[in-house]
Amino acid sequence: MPTTETTLSWPKATEEFAEPILPHAELQDFCAFHFDRRKLYLQPFKDGHTSPLYLFDQAILRERAQRFQATFKAVLPALSTYYAVKSNNHPEVARTLIEEGLGLDVSSGIELTLALDLDCKEIIFSGPGKTDQELALAVAHAERTTILLDSFGELERLEKIAGAEKKELRVGVRLTTEGNPLWRKFGIALNRLPEFWEKAQACKHINLQGLQYHSSWNLTPDRQLGFIATLGELLAKMPATFLENLYFIDLGGGFWPEPGEWLQAQATRVGTIGKAFGHEIKDPLKHYRLPALPLANFAQKLGQALTRHIFPKCCCRVCFEPGRWLCHDAMHLLITVVDKKADDLAITDAGTNTIGWERFESDYFPVLNLSRPELTEHSCDILGSLCTPHDIWGYSYWGETLQEGDTLMIPSQGAYTYSLRQNFIKAPAPVVVLAKQPATSSAHKTCTVNTQPNQGR
Ligand SMILES: Cc1ncc(COP(=O)(O)O)c(C=O)c1O
Repeated sequence: MPTTETTLSWPKATEEFAEPILPHAELQDFCAFHFDRRKLYLQPFKDGHTSPLYLFDQAILRERAQRFQATFKAVLPALSTYYAVKSNNHPEVARTLIEEGLGLDVSSGIELTLALDLDCKEIIFSGPGKTDQELALAVAHAERTTILLDSFGELERLEKIAGAEKKELRVGVRLTTEGNPLWRKFGIALNRLPEFWEKAQACKHINLQGLQYHSSWNLTPDRQLGFIATLGELLAKMPATFLENLYFIDLGGGFWPEPGEWLQAQATRVGTIGKAFGHEIKDPLKHYRLPALPLANFAQKLGQALTRHIFPKCCCRVCFEPGRWLCHDAMHLLITVVDKKADDLAITDAGTNTIGWERFESDYFPVLNLSRPELTEHSCDILGSLCTPHDIWGYSYWGETLQEGDTLMIPSQGAYTYSLRQNFIKAPAPVVVLAKQPATSSAHKTCTVNTQPNQGR
């Protein structure tokens, strides 16, 4: 029970930390868009597929890939985009993006093998703790793989492996500026770049020609802008040979999709504070949204910052590694109500092993009753069939009164769900490709403004 003191403090906390409501009209439009396409979504069942399943909307993925590249090309003289495979590792997703002219950003031997099997011609291999076996695989495919080194130790190990194979490797190094101690594990501190350059020059098989920086969950470009300004100061002190050799700066991924981050009431700051004060907040029909800036806004601001801080020192190519922004809206989940235990309690045929984490305890996505569409939302616990009470799809659904056998859709489950799926109690859901369309463009061209990579040193 809350004490008198906590009860008094509580209202003040709610005022100070209240987060924006997700506008109802916008949410309704989102649901209406999907209800209008319900026949398309239900077609796989007519074709013999069974619930649960992931629907892969290839046309949406293509549209996102084209928009991402067009938006940044409008402001950057030379651009390369690499899809972060970890965000959704289904081969058809990666294949579609290769067709759209993207390279692949891989973070393990498994992902590298996937990229090689898909005949991807431009691969970057990033991530901490690459094993010797993983480095050796990258060395074996050096003509299409650029390794983004994560440490001094990795530099030494790669030099040995490349030396044994008598191969020269194109590499970059990941830089970290974060004050947050959790991010120490990534890359090297920015101020150690001069030392890294010196060591790399002594490695006969290493051609250091790029820098990488990645930050996650960017609702605004502030973190990336901070990095660019700090990097600009450092580049001013770097030797001319380094700048001449610098072919690319990779600003990572982390772009949040434009609808913003949708939250359940209990996952807002007020909800979290409330829980700490002993007030469980559960408000199934109230949804919140942390707004995200449109991609064009990121592009404009990053373009300006690069023009101001970086391009006067070196005219290099700019690379990005988007994952979530590209694939978020490109997969939806279809599940079925198996057991309606009460008007406000339904159990479905799929558990959250399908997505690998307890996403919907914090994130809000409308659960759409495709079998009985209606633009009204009802309070109801929609739960999975695993042996854990944390197996939750949502606390409400959109549609007419739910019945056993109804097909429910959870839209926009393309990012960090399919790749995290688990073989736990229930089998992971298969993927059905919703619409296969021919590639409409191959927008990824080499920029003529930029210098070519310095292969020979
Ligand atoms: C190095 C790196 N690049 C790119 C990404 C993709 O990020 P996002 O999916 O948020 O765009 C990640 C995600 O963790 C990452 O670690």
